[in-house]
Amino acid sequence: MEIPAMPDLTLKEKIGLLSGAGFWETAALPGHGIRSLVLSDGPHGIRRPAGTADGLEPGDSHPATCFPAECATACSWDRSLLAELGTAVAREARAQGVDVLLGPGLNIKRTPLCGRNFEYYSEDPLLAGELGAAWTAAVQAAGVGASPKHFAANNQEADRMRVDAVVDQRTLHEIYLRAFEIVVRTAGPWTVMAAYNKVNGLHAAENPWLLGTVLRDTWGYEGAVISDWGAVTDRAAALAAGLDLEMPASGGLGAQELSAGLDAGTVTEQQVDTAVERILALVRRASVQPGPAQHDSGQPGSAAADYAAHHELARRAAAASMVLLQNDGGILPLSPGGSLAVIGELARTPRYQGSGSSRVHPVHLVTPLAALADQVPDLLFEPGYVLSADSPCAEEDLADMAAAAAAAADTAVVFLGLPETAESEGFDRTTLELPGPQLELLDAVVTANPRTIVVLSNGGAVTTEWAAAVPAVLEAWLPGEAGGSAVADVLLGRAEPGGRLAETIPHRLADTAAYGNYPGEDGAVRYGEGLLVGYRWYDTRGFAVAFPFGHGLSYTTFEYSELEVSTVGAGASQLVHADLTLTNAGSRSGSEVVQLYAGAPDDDGRQRPLRELRGFEKVQLEPGESRRVSFRLDVRTLSRWDPGTGTWVADAGEYRLEVGASSRDIRLSGAAALDGTVPVSELTTGSPIAEWLADPDAAAVLVDALSAPASASVSDSAPASVSDSASASVSDSAPESGAAGLPASLALVGSMPLNRLARFPGSPITPALLQRLEAERRARRGG
Ligand code: BGC
Repeated sequence: MEIPAMPDLTLKEKIGLLSGAGFWETAALPGHGIRSLVLSDGPHGIRRPAGTADGLEPGDSHPATCFPAECATACSWDRSLLAELGTAVAREARAQGVDVLLGPGLNIKRTPLCGRNFEYYSEDPLLAGELGAAWTAAVQAAGVGASPKHFAANNQEADRMRVDAVVDQRTLHEIYLRAFEIVVRTAGPWTVMAAYNKVNGLHAAENPWLLGTVLRDTWGYEGAVISDWGAVTDRAAALAAGLDLEMPASGGLGAQELSAGLDAGTVTEQQVDTAVERILALVRRASVQPGPAQHDSGQPGSAAADYAAHHELARRAAAASMVLLQNDGGILPLSPGGSLAVIGELARTPRYQGSGSSRVHPVHLVTPLAALADQVPDLLFEPGYVLSADSPCAEEDLADMAAAAAAAADTAVVFLGLPETAESEGFDRTTLELPGPQLELLDAVVTANPRTIVVLSNGGAVTTEWAAAVPAVLEAWLPGEAGGSAVADVLLGRAEPGGRLAETIPHRLADTAAYGNYPGEDGAVRYGEGLLVGYRWYDTRGFAVAFPFGHGLSYTTFEYSELEVSTVGAGASQLVHADLTLTNAGSRSGSEVVQLYAGAPDDDGRQRPLRELRGFEKVQLEPGESRRVSFRLDVRTLSRWDPGTGTWVADAGEYRLEVGASSRDIRLSGAAALDGTVPVSELTTGSPIAEWLADPDAAAVLVDALSAPASASVSDSAPASVSDSASASVSDSAPESGAAGLPASLALVGSMPLNRLARFPGSPITPALLQRLEAERRARRGG
């Protein structure tokens, strides 16, 4: 049945649509042709709970392909791979009767301690936004809605249900909202999920600034806003703020609060209607499918989803996301024929996805041990350490046995990482270090055999001081159900490690940007580092890091040459062109992630990251092949958020452009001059003297006014030549200039607002003069 534009519903029926009907379903009104929608986690696979369980344990949900987690796929830096993953996961969603997938996770990795970093892409908003947009667009093209989450500033699990993220406007717009903005503007998500936490004092789900001013009024979002599960504390306040659907069902509480709000006048029926219309639009969208929907088939192997092909995709994606952190002497890929000791319980019991609401019941899990044993005859295995505390084995014995195996083999591959108990949704980590017994094991193995390769499995960055003792480290992240095969592919050279770090690996926790402003106190966490998040922090502060943002080795080498930078157009439509040549100078085919960073003019005292990622391209090249790589940056991409005007503005001046293979491996640099889009400053009598004098027109008005007799009208007063020479004398007055380029004599009072100067005894600036100044300035600006 077609749903009419606004069906004839009673107020009670309408209110009933605004909260979920169960854990995962929206309310239905079959008499009006309104069906229930099924929402499901997301994002790296479908978690469709079986029966009434909440599905938090893997066995509770229907099997689905477990793709690599976002912490991994972000390292692919590959928009088209993310699109392939989106298509595949949406096909499985359709096969399992899921209408909306709860992802992607777009929160910025503010601190590596966040227990849920595995579900987020990056410390950089451009990378997170562009990958999230590619995934979202592909999911939706396959007829399933996406739900970018958690909007916004949900950057820690500690106290996540109520902590107040206190963030300044520029930092919000440039860092924490930016990835959401990119996805909303370019991929048009069917829904957006409001976070648990507060943003500047109000819960995200009840925050009119966030859901109204930013999301709808500024970004033009027209889809439905849904709550994170249990994020609503006051349904009426949430509706008034712009939250359409409360999830899950709230036992009638949501409806009661809405009725009470209507009675009290804190919400209107118009607001109820608007939310109902958005939910009906969502139901309509979900009902127009590109192919036949197969609701509730629930089983792998249905015609709509090819689980075998998806397993192969998961394997390819995992390899394309693994980051080869170091590879001394080219020890990897392993030469065929050598003997191998595989060490570490994580090789046999892999950590391949994160814990919590995103946990998928995999269709076909392949362990690294099984995949390697398939390829390498007579491989030795020793667990080396235990993952669960209740194992009877002493870790020392395990380490000794592992060292003996390592000594007996040509090469040892040691699997290290974070156990489930160390990182999960719901709590943060307390340390960046690997568990002590694993480090002791590594010590014993390296002593027995220096040809030791470490493979890491973890959702958030771990410190790597131990890496100095080993020739090679492969960061596999949480690589999904086919991660074992992908690790074998990369170690044995059948696939290249295609990943580059989407987050910096620091030396120490105390070096990280949020240190000192995390996890907050008295219910609030202050984002005191501002824009300086991730590499923006380390690079601007000049801190050494273990492995920089964007870093990752390949099995081949790339050369960068012939950077040409130019601009076309003017003003707000100016475009920066940056073109360079990339050459595969090695002997294997391989892919490189070409990164373009920019640094804005920094002479105005604003916080300026040294460099910021403004473009990236993943390029696949055969040995000896060269390709021209082109970037086109619009002014908006190079702009900063201007809280004064509530707009994006680009400062005029020279922007440094750097092309490189990481934020610390800049290969080519150039510069582009931008006209800028800074609006004409609104000088008032409350503006400091320095600002009046810095603007030639305003300086002229001031000088005119000061040289005119108090009784004369400003427009009749001083001739142009007086003001010209006066303002010229201001700007030409060096050598002795002081603050803000003022003559030394004026520097002392340069920061004094005119109207404050007027309050001093004997001041030449009088209230009457101030009024005349304002009038004259308006007149000169034609206002
Ligand atoms: C998580 C969301 C998830 C939802 C439903 C919440 O606890 O924060 O990411 O989509 O549960 O499982």
